[in-house]
Amino acid sequence: MAVLVVGGAGYIGSHAAHVLRRKGYDVIIYDNLCTGHKELAEGFELIVGDIADTAKIAKVLTRCDSVMHFAAHAYVGESVQNPKKYFHNNVTAALTLLDTVMESRVRKFIFSSTCAVYGNPVKVPITESNPRQPVNPYGATKLAFENALEAYGRAYALRFVSFRYFNAAGADESGKIGESHDPETHLIPLIFQAAQGKRAALDIFGDDYPTADGTCIRDYIHVTDLAEAHVAGLEYLAKGESAAMNLGTGEGCSVKDVVAAVERISGSKVPTHIAERRMGDPPELVADPSLAEKLLKWKAKRSLDEIISTAWKWAQKRTS
Ligand SMILES: NC(=O)c1ccc[n+]([C@@H]2O[C@H](COP(=O)([O-])OP(=O)(O)OC[C@H]3O[C@@H](n4cnc5c(N)ncnc54)[C@H](O)[C@@H]3O)[C@@H](O)[C@H]2O)c1
Repeated sequence: MAVLVVGGAGYIGSHAAHVLRRKGYDVIIYDNLCTGHKELAEGFELIVGDIADTAKIAKVLTRCDSVMHFAAHAYVGESVQNPKKYFHNNVTAALTLLDTVMESRVRKFIFSSTCAVYGNPVKVPITESNPRQPVNPYGATKLAFENALEAYGRAYALRFVSFRYFNAAGADESGKIGESHDPETHLIPLIFQAAQGKRAALDIFGDDYPTADGTCIRDYIHVTDLAEAHVAGLEYLAKGESAAMNLGTGEGCSVKDVVAAVERISGSKVPTHIAERRMGDPPELVADPSLAEKLLKWKAKRSLDEIISTAWKWAQKRTS
């Protein structure tokens, strides 16, 4: 039986598919390619379809024993402009997927949630007991689906893990897959674009935050560490358990720290421009990852330098 990797032609899902295969799991990728890329699913069985297509999902589920659900729209700014798009895909269509799963024999479900469910945290590092008060529609859609999983888990014996990712970054060590969003909003690819002269400068949104260098601090976790946590999550589900947990490193890096690391690793100067703060950007978002470490016997092991060097290798390959 296979693991159904829904959204597996996207950035994080494709890395999970590769790590699953390396660990000996059979994988089927299901993706409508709205933001995904066929190339990221190369070498895997890819079924092109939407999560709201009940008949298509039901058919493939007969060959699966677990589901990893990465498929979503994931741009915070767009979710503010167009919440309908976000609630329709990340909640309505996602619930259709969940109900189709409940009509199958599959009872193991892993969900890509986000630290955006916490909104402005009351305390950093952020533990899972921090109140979940999202400050944008994207976070609200993720919280809605987390709530559905908790209720389905209690009522219908579904086993689930909601993983609250902090900032996913980096690329597979093979150099074959990596991050590719359009439009790109993630910091490290944007820094690369500035380093490669593809944009005039990197906009740094605010340098007057109450942090050591004035720029925002985030917890960057290597995408392969995230992918490995998903495999550990499957083993956790196999024990009959369910939980929601943070996936981060517990270490914060400022925007300026990341720029400096890119300059060091790439050998290229990164032009920067200090822009206005963005609405709703908390100064510091850093995970307390101890719950995942305890429950999964997993720990993020890759450093910021490994994040940048793997991502740089991927970026170079794409422009060569
Ligand atoms: N990238 C991050 O730092 C980050 C942080 C927190 C949470 N997340 C979550 O992780 C998941 C993956 O993010 P990503 O960065 O890999 O994004 P991505 O856009 O690269 O991947 C999402 C994939 O889902 C597919 N998809 C979307 N809607 C679909 C639908 N209705 N039917 C079928 N396929 C559909 C897309 O085509 C794409 O391949 C998302 O749920 C996102 O909210 C990402």
